[in-house]
Amino acid sequence: MKITWHGHSCVLVEGTKKILFDPFLTGNPRAVIKPGDLRQIDYIFITHEHHDHLGDAVEIAKANGSCIVALHEIAVSCLEQGARTEGMNVGGTLDFGGVRVNMVMAVHSGAATGMIIEMDGKTIYHAGDTALFSDMGLYAGFFKIDLAFLPIGDRYTMGPKSAAKAVELLKTPRVIPIHYGTFPLLTGKVEDFRKYVKNAEVIALSPGESFEL
Ligand code: NI
Ligand code: MN
Repeated sequence: MKITWHGHSCVLVEGTKKILFDPFLTGNPRAVIKPGDLRQIDYIFITHEHHDHLGDAVEIAKANGSCIVALHEIAVSCLEQGARTEGMNVGGTLDFGGVRVNMVMAVHSGAATGMIIEMDGKTIYHAGDTALFSDMGLYAGFFKIDLAFLPIGDRYTMGPKSAAKAVELLKTPRVIPIHYGTFPLLTGKVEDFRKYVKNAEVIALSPGESFEL
């Protein structure tokens, strides 16, 4: 499974299906691709409707015939803009055959979610924007999380120290830090995250860089 980080919270996961998370490319100073560079995206998973997450989702979905998967209200709004969508809500599971999506909570403003994806025998957790919360420990009991994407930028989400605690609760062996370095306001640093994380591999990618899981 090939994982590519496109800056901020945008992640492309390529396995049986091509899944794109939170495609904030237009207006992202660190993105090295444009929405039109993405091809054959099967699903676009949106963690919440903030601009830096919903981003170019509708444009990419319409260009690729992708299905946007998000909270009910976000799905309705994207449907009204002409995209194919599947709405769901926190606590629910959607099985697309080959890809299973578990929508989980996130602690953030507005309605925000995290997503735990099961595909090709691997389990990946994208936390979206969130504070640290103790239910992450419950997810470790339900899922064997192979890889987590966790925000470390601080101010609007967890910072390095709380994100490191999240790694411990999730019992994941690997973590890719996201939602940092995009704007000066996001002050959380990978160096600090590395110092705090125990017993897990911190995989810090540059925008456009890939990792094989
Ligand atoms: Ni947000
Ligand atoms: Mn955000």
